[in-house]
Amino acid sequence: MAGKRHGSWHLRMLVLVSTVVVMRAASRDYGDALSKSILFFEGQRSGKLPPTQRVTWRRDSALADGFGQGVDLVGGYYDAGDNVKFNFPMAFSTTMLAWSITEFGKSMVGTSDLQHALEAIRWSTDYFLKATSLPGVVFAQVGEPNSDHSCWERPEDMDTPRISYAVTEKSPGSEVSAEIAAALAASSIVFKSFDRGYSRLLLQRASKVFDFADTYRGSYNDSIGQWVCPFYCDNSGYQDELLWAAAWLHKATKATFYWTYVTENIHNLSSFTEFGWDAKHAGINVLISKYILINSLDSAPFLQNADKLVCSILPESPTLGVEYSPGGLLFKPGLCNMQHSTSLSFLLLAYARYLKSANKVVQCDNVVATPSRLIRFARGQVDYILGKNPPNTSYMVGYGRKFPQRIHHRGSSLPSVGQHPEHIDCKGGTPYFSSNEDNPNLLIGAVVGGPDINDSYADSRADFAHSEPTTYVNAPLVGLLAYFRAHS
Ligand SMILES: *[C@@H]1O[C@H](CO)[C@@H](O)[C@H](O)[C@H]1NC(C)=O
Ligand SMILES: *[C@@H]1O[C@H](CO)[C@@H](O)[C@H](O)[C@H]1NC(C)=O
Ligand SMILES: *[C@@H]1O[C@H](CO)[C@@H](O)[C@H](O)[C@H]1NC(C)=O
Ligand SMILES: *[C@@H]1O[C@H](CO)[C@@H](O)[C@H](O)[C@H]1NC(C)=O
Repeated sequence: MAGKRHGSWHLRMLVLVSTVVVMRAASRDYGDALSKSILFFEGQRSGKLPPTQRVTWRRDSALADGFGQGVDLVGGYYDAGDNVKFNFPMAFSTTMLAWSITEFGKSMVGTSDLQHALEAIRWSTDYFLKATSLPGVVFAQVGEPNSDHSCWERPEDMDTPRISYAVTEKSPGSEVSAEIAAALAASSIVFKSFDRGYSRLLLQRASKVFDFADTYRGSYNDSIGQWVCPFYCDNSGYQDELLWAAAWLHKATKATFYWTYVTENIHNLSSFTEFGWDAKHAGINVLISKYILINSLDSAPFLQNADKLVCSILPESPTLGVEYSPGGLLFKPGLCNMQHSTSLSFLLLAYARYLKSANKVVQCDNVVATPSRLIRFARGQVDYILGKNPPNTSYMVGYGRKFPQRIHHRGSSLPSVGQHPEHIDCKGGTPYFSSNEDNPNLLIGAVVGGPDINDSYADSRADFAHSEPTTYVNAPLVGLLAYFRAHS
């Protein structure tokens, strides 16, 4: 008996030791990546930077945004490698940052990561409070995008027209207004336990902006399309944003009105498997499924739709609707592929946890997808991004031994104001854009559009589809990294 017990103990030790060794070799430093993924947002800040700013090669910029139209629109984020404030994707990024914290932030309590994540959300919500302060008006964008995109200029030097574009009762924009309402409602949940007054303010504004979006229906394509298209054209319509906002408002208030709104209108949406700054369909179903599973409510069509999402993504599913590179990165058509990897992984991870607590699995025809399979899937995508891929490259700037050096980002690629205080004008930046040198300023935490479908990455500044970082790649990644830091 004793011998046997001793033997099995010995065996267990051996297994334990070898597991530790394997884990070491394969595991990523999720904590380091998490801190960096949040730091990235400081590099994207527009407006007057606070004394606590850690990305010190950036300085104040766009300090008179909105003034020409008699409003204060200073603040917010640049979406990517340019200097326009596109409120539609900015709002989606904010909603996803807030969801990252409400869903996966528990393990961050008491850490500086949480403090910084709250600051990242507030940087946005403070701006959205300004953008929605006039009744009957929602500001949708600041910066004339065509002249901005034809210059390679630091935000601190910007001299292109900073025109503000608004949607109104007469020229509505339900997608941008509803996404801002979703961002404010989701953020109000985050701030509930940290700043009750601020949380209440965000929620009140969210419900007003939702009313505006719902009462005056229309797409900003039709009202300000000349400036939002082709950059952030609304291709998937505005009904998904209205439902998404109502789903977040329901989560924040538990009011029957919003529940009824979602359940009565969900049948208007025909696609279930899209999720990103333009298409909220899959996110609505996953978000609502938590409430349904907790309260054992009638699941149709939310769980069925969420299951279809899972079955469209898992590589072994017979109804697969996405592609994979040989190295395992998820691919969908279009620019900035990494946004699909992070946002869809986020949904699968969130859904896995809801299913797990309800003891459920997903059935993709004859293939069973367990919650732990979904979690493993999400971790695989995150690990790929952090360097577990054929060229062994991390796609996060400043993380790991090898990472992108020539990202498509004006501020990162031009010398900083500290190094080069003289103004660099619109075309004065062209030599820096065309140079083969590495960028002088590390935008730490930025995750680029990523490799091509054969797992290769050119690291070319001109190749913006692959080398440009965006806020909506990072925002869901914050939640994924928070989870894997706590569970690995
Ligand atoms: C927005 O514009 C794009 C491009 O013109 C078009 O494909 C899309 O259908 C439009 N969306 C809506 C909701 O009008
Ligand atoms: C959903 O469709 C119904 C019937 O066409 C319509 O009355 C309703 O306004 C739509 N809801 C939304 C949010 O667009
Ligand atoms: C990447 O790392 C793996 C495992 O350490 C190694 O086998 C492979 O040769 C590396 N590939 C490159 C391109 O360095
Ligand atoms: C990937 O590789 C395949 C097969 O070699 C090739 O046909 C395809 O053009 C490549 N795609 C890209 C984006 O390089």
